[in-house]
Amino acid sequence: MSAFSELKDRLATSQSTWLITGVAGFIGSHLLEELLRLDQRVVGLDNFSTGHQRNLDEVEQLVGSKWSNFRFIKGDIRDLNDCSEACRGVDYVLHQAALGSVPRSLENPILTHESNINGFLNMLVAARDNQVKRFVYAASSSTYGDHPALPKQEDIIGNPLSPYAVTKYVNELYAAVFARSYGLESMGLRYFNVFGPRQDPNGAYAAVIPKWSDALIEKRACRINGDGETSRDFCFVKNAVQANLLAAMTQSEAAINQVYNVAVGDRTTLNELHSVLKSLLAEFDESIASAEPDYGEFRAGDVRHSQADISKARQLLGYEPEFRINEGLKETVVWYDANSVK
Ligand SMILES: NC(=O)c1ccc[n+]([C@@H]2O[C@H](COP(=O)([O-])OP(=O)(O)OC[C@H]3O[C@@H](n4cnc5c(N)ncnc54)[C@H](O)[C@@H]3O)[C@@H](O)[C@H]2O)c1
Repeated sequence: MSAFSELKDRLATSQSTWLITGVAGFIGSHLLEELLRLDQRVVGLDNFSTGHQRNLDEVEQLVGSKWSNFRFIKGDIRDLNDCSEACRGVDYVLHQAALGSVPRSLENPILTHESNINGFLNMLVAARDNQVKRFVYAASSSTYGDHPALPKQEDIIGNPLSPYAVTKYVNELYAAVFARSYGLESMGLRYFNVFGPRQDPNGAYAAVIPKWSDALIEKRACRINGDGETSRDFCFVKNAVQANLLAAMTQSEAAINQVYNVAVGDRTTLNELHSVLKSLLAEFDESIASAEPDYGEFRAGDVRHSQADISKARQLLGYEPEFRINEGLKETVVWYDANSVK
């Protein structure tokens, strides 16, 4: 039996209270869905800056009567009072709220800093003061910066390539200091290009999979930044959910106060991604099969290749990704086909 199955059985027999910050966002809404399905009590905090009420509405539809175990607080992690209110009576924090996107942080580093560093520090203080059992937070593969080694191992990092990458690395430093100074147990999850249903396809800072799915469905050309040989370790969101729950609940001393890669361990180029997405979406509309991408300049701040070594999460947490990229993409395109404005 996998560590995740055992964990789900354990959760089924005991109810805890979880706080998900960024609950109206992409990853936050999937954490919410899973925890409610597992009969947990959930508090959610969000300011709707990049998240949406429609994500919460969709989870409500999916979980039915279990929705009554959810309490939403509209608030901002830049406000310590909001963080304190949200942490009251909470066992486990899954801190997802942040402003994502490398280009956004290059255009507005102060705004990114305020949410991702000041907001993060507020959440650590609130979690410490409310004696939460554990603080799990969204770190990022961007922390590997310009280090060329592949696959990425947690303790070998380079120089950050964007303000966003700085903020996510500072999160790790602060979490480690709160563990040493105040005994707050924390777990950093370095997500590698997470994708899945409900990831926002709109706006200048949309991630590649939702943006291209939407573009293909709407018969627009997908823009490839550079030659298309840039590669990523794309990780389906359900793998990220698994990592969060394992990190929150592990009893192993060696596993606590660590940072983990959360990915699959595969590498897919943008050219390959374009061709897989095209063929999956062609099952809904065969004209998509002939779509050609549009090549542009490389994008500032992007790392060229990214691939995770996930052995640390495997060994210490029992993490075992259940979805490789194509399995995740199959579920994802069904959602975009149903939800895109065609
Ligand atoms: N999606 C990825 O591939 C990826 C990769 C690495 C790291 N991450 C990190 O994972 C986390 C979740 O990302 P996501 O993809 O779900 O993004 P998202 O934008 O969909 O979700 C972020 C949520 O946080 C909320 N939020 C932002 N600033 C806030 C604030 N000041 N106060 C309260 N709420 C606030 C937003 O409204 C949104 O609902 C983020 O910390 C992000 O940096 C994501």
